[in-house]
This record gives sequence, structure tokens and C-alpha cells, in this order.
Amino acid sequence: MNPIPSITLNNNIEMPVLGLGTRMLKFVKAEKAVAHALEAGYRSIDTSNIFSNEANIGKALKESNIERSELFLSNKVFTSNQSKESIIKAFNKTRLNLNTDYLDLYLLHGPAQNLFGAWETLIELYDKGFVRAIGICNTNIKYLKMIEHENYMLPLINQLEYNPYITQLELVDYCKQKSIQVEAWGPLARGEVLDNKKIIAISQKYEKTPAQIVLRWELQNDLIVIPSSKNPKRLKENTEIFNFSICEEDMATLHSINSNRRWMWSYGS
Ligand SMILES: NC(=O)c1ccc[n+]([C@@H]2O[C@H](COP(=O)([O-])OP(=O)(O)OC[C@H]3O[C@@H](n4cnc5c(N)ncnc54)[C@H](OP(=O)(O)O)[C@@H]3O)[C@@H](O)[C@H]2O)c1
Repeated sequence: MNPIPSITLNNNIEMPVLGLGTRMLKFVKAEKAVAHALEAGYRSIDTSNIFSNEANIGKALKESNIERSELFLSNKVFTSNQSKESIIKAFNKTRLNLNTDYLDLYLLHGPAQNLFGAWETLIELYDKGFVRAIGICNTNIKYLKMIEHENYMLPLINQLEYNPYITQLELVDYCKQKSIQVEAWGPLARGEVLDNKKIIAISQKYEKTPAQIVLRWELQNDLIVIPSSKNPKRLKENTEIFNFSICEEDMATLHSINSNRRWMWSYGS
């Protein structure tokens, strides 16, 4: 089993390019999926304080006996008022649930109501060394410019909805220009892209599965991917994307599938 490659974020920390998404994995499902994912070689786990699974994930991580330093733990904070007090409270609960003193990545689930206050709180956690990287989710150019305009540290990550049905090209390009790494959530569109005829045809050509083609296309677009699965066979299948590459023509065909079909809101758009 080869280790999953990493990329270097703009603050020089290494982040695996493939992690496990856990939104639909509630309670004991998360525990099992994380255990299987760690066996398959995953070391990066994406969680949130609203996914109802932090404590289960913490249990699976503890039982794995994998060194904390080998893991990359990401969490997204969602609080109703995004006050400093509510974020710090959620952060401490998350640390307790995941059995960890620090997080590798802490993201604002969205910047809407109290953007500057919430971002300042994340910067404070980062400056104090409680988190190794900070970022934001679903954030468009307008909000990124507002952060820059106030001379705050820019997010290291923007976690966006991204898959062949929604590519948000202008936003992704803007993030690249600003050295903000884009991380694709919903990279398989919850499985909905996998019966697309063009994707199936390309998968047959490369003798790969449609999921592997979609994830590989996203990696070749310089994104980090966090597909979710509760199925041990698929968890492993989703790691087998580092031993081939998609040619330019097929990359373009995959790009042409975009229909801006958004599943979830995006701030400011
Ligand atoms: N920041 C945000 O606002 C935000 C929003 C939504 C999600 N996220 C994050 O992004 C992660 C991924 O997104 P997502 O969970 O919504 O959807 P996704 O990863 O695009 O798709 C997951 C679905 O695809 C299926 N699947 C996985 N691998 C497969 C394969 N090889 N072949 C066929 N089917 C496969 C899974 O079914 P099985 O389980 O049956 O395999 C599951 O139903 C989330 O878990 C969460 O961590 C973030």
C-alpha cells in the first residue's frame, strides 16, 4: 500500500490530496468507515461539529493506534452566531471528541453573518498553535476580496462544491492566483455523476471505474478531494487513482460536462 501523496499549503504544511468525507456517516457508521479508511491508507479525515459523528471518529482514531502526527484532522465549525465564544466552545468540544490537542485544519463552514469576527477567531487559534492551517468553505470572490481588503491573513483552503457538474472555474482560478488551495467537497456529486455516459465511456477506455476517473480528473485540476464512502471496497477503490493519468483531450471532455448544477448554497453567489 503506497502512501497517499500530499501537497504543500501556502504556509508550508503538507496535506494529503485524498481524504475521507464523513457528512453522511453518522454515529457508528462513521466509526466503521474511518476504521476501514485507515486500513486502506487514508490519513486525512474531514469532519464537522454538525455531522453527529465526532466522538465516533475519535474512537476509531484512538483504536487504530496510528500516531497523531501521521493523521491530518480537519474540522468545520458551524455555529449559529459565529461569535468568538461560540467558536472557541465548539473548538474545545471538537478537540475532546477527536482526542486531540490540535487540529491540522479548521474551516469556517461559511463566512456569512460575522465574517471578520469569525475569521479573527480562527486566526487567533492559528497564531496560538492550536490549528496548523485555517480556511473557509463555500466562499466566493467577493468575500475573499473582503478578507484581503481588511489585510487579514487569507484562507489557506477554500472548500467548495466541485465535481463534473459544477466546476466554478472563475472562483477556482481566483483561489489559485491567491495561493488558496481548493478542496472539492461532494467530489462525486453524492454518486450522481457516476452514471454519466461520457464519464462511463472514459472509464472504459482507462479500465478504471467512473469514480476513479472523476477523482483523478479533480486531482489533475490541482484539487484536494474528500469523497465519502461507508463501503470498504469503494474506500479502497477511491485510493487507486495515483497510478494513471487522464490525457488532455479526455480532461477537456470531462470539463465540458459542467452545467453549474449546484447542490448547496454558496455564500454571496
Ligand atoms: N463544506 C461544506 O459545506 C460541505 C458540504 C457537503 C459535504 N462536505 C464534505 O465533503 C464530503 C464529500 O461529499 P458528500 O459526502 O456529500 O458526497 P460525495 O463524496 O460526492 O459522494 C458520496 C456518495 O458516493 C458514493 N460513493 C463513494 N465512492 C464510490 C464509488 N467508488 N463508487 C460508487 N459510489 C461511490 C457513496 O456511497 P457509499 O457510501 O454507499 O459508498 C456516497 O453515497 C462530505 O462527506 C463532507 O465531509 C462539505
